[in-house]
Amino acid sequence: MTSMFHRRLLSALFAAVLAGSGLAHAATPLPRIVSAHGRHELLVDGKPYFILGAQVNNSSGWPAMLPQVWPAIEAIHANTVQVPIAWDQIEPVQGHFDFSFLDTLVAQAREQKVRLVLLWFATWKNNGPNYAPAWVKLNNRRFPRVVKKDGSSLNSLSPFGTHTLAADRAAFVALMTHLRQLDGEQHTVVMMQVENESGTYGTDRDYSAAGNALLQSPVPVVVLRKMDKHAGSWSQVFGKDAAEFSYAWAIAHYIDQVAAAGKAVYDLPMYANVALRDPFHPGPPGGYSSGGPTDNVLDIWRAAAPSLDLLAPDIYMREYAKYTAVLDRYARADNPLFVGETGNDLPYARYLFAALGKQAIGYSPFGIDYTKYSNWPLGAKVIDADTIQPFAANYALIAPMQSLIARLSFEGKVWGAAEPEQSHEQNLELGDWRVHIGYGQPQFGMDPPKGNDKLLGGVLIAQLGKNEYLVTGYHARVNFLPPKDHDGEHLLFERVEEGHYDVDGHWQFLREWNGDQTDYGLNFTGQPQVLRVTLATY
Ligand code: DGJ
Repeated sequence: MTSMFHRRLLSALFAAVLAGSGLAHAATPLPRIVSAHGRHELLVDGKPYFILGAQVNNSSGWPAMLPQVWPAIEAIHANTVQVPIAWDQIEPVQGHFDFSFLDTLVAQAREQKVRLVLLWFATWKNNGPNYAPAWVKLNNRRFPRVVKKDGSSLNSLSPFGTHTLAADRAAFVALMTHLRQLDGEQHTVVMMQVENESGTYGTDRDYSAAGNALLQSPVPVVVLRKMDKHAGSWSQVFGKDAAEFSYAWAIAHYIDQVAAAGKAVYDLPMYANVALRDPFHPGPPGGYSSGGPTDNVLDIWRAAAPSLDLLAPDIYMREYAKYTAVLDRYARADNPLFVGETGNDLPYARYLFAALGKQAIGYSPFGIDYTKYSNWPLGAKVIDADTIQPFAANYALIAPMQSLIARLSFEGKVWGAAEPEQSHEQNLELGDWRVHIGYGQPQFGMDPPKGNDKLLGGVLIAQLGKNEYLVTGYHARVNFLPPKDHDGEHLLFERVEEGHYDVDGHWQFLREWNGDQTDYGLNFTGQPQVLRVTLATY
């Protein structure tokens, strides 16, 4: 009896050990984005993750280019690299797939210890089909282009092309199928961008028969609900906006079907990026990429494309007012903010702090490799270690605590600020405390803020506990003040510690700040310094 019992126990234990070891080999949870209370977080291997990203140039997605990619990625301290996977590259002949670049890329990314976001360049790459295979882009009858009002055609594929959708979707499914086999356990690839800057320049919509018919067809209920409208055709419901809005629906629905089919085989987070319109003076659709997820059609896109986890702005506007307006408009309860692309010269670097302050899940400058290409005037004239340095400094500062910050951000306990051009001070409301930030002050004394010579100022604050805050940044003075209704109370630092987080996320104490180092506020220079501050009043 006893020995039988023991044998059973042993075999049960053995099975459990086997299952356990199976589990150890089995995949960690899939990357995913979770949302609650109007906030969002990206989870990678089950842990909060902030994308300190870098996007390579458009033509750098080839094995021979990778040696010129990795040194730049290392220099910038990115934890995630965005790389194009082009339709013509993987399916040069219909139905015949070549994933050799993807295999090389994933293997090398693992060696480099970085994650990847893959960019599916297919039906749309900046409005056009230049990355579609020749068998697609040369066959206008099977894969029709957008027709203008005057009957001429544009180099933008029509979202009404049923063969186009079927072919793009099949290729994307093949890609996701291969990726699942290649990476289904390790999750080096954490997210997919589906198409690139969709939409069409030069028209508000497609004037093909299908495009005309859509305009007269009923607005789908999901859109009506989202926008609180009564039933009717696109023309009836949206009047002068109907052309653009119906076109946005058509493109969003197309991309949703590609994304949905891809997710059905391998369920990674997916997003679409945006060729933005000017936030204050947009001009007419077609002057900007009409039908893409511009700020005026976000409701339509969110309703039409439930398979997309988010719509990511590509921000190439250096001005503070415009940049922060874009962050505001894309950080929504129904849209996690991800700065999917941004310029790569100095004025853009500080906006990492502004993005963090808007609960972004990531941020990524474009054109980060040493292939000697510059997209000036959008970005820098030359991409070298000096150009990369301000981004690298920011990433080096944030990287050791990115997971902590991502978690606290999801809990609504992160604030951030970037230096404006015009004014040199800002105020933040933390609820329990207020913060005054000054830019361009010496570390000692009460000289008023006059702005930094270079626009590099940025501040990040995260609440760690009651009256306890993590404070960091560059080229800025941070002063805490008691909340408004605490008249007569004055700030007292109970303790200010400088230190850093180690690889395991443990705080490593370096020293206390006191005396000159705190008498005039907490002064951040170009040194990477992280403080844990405990506040009190007297
Ligand atoms: C935005 C696009 O998404 C990128 O692929 C690239 O073309 C930049 N514009 C410009 O360098």
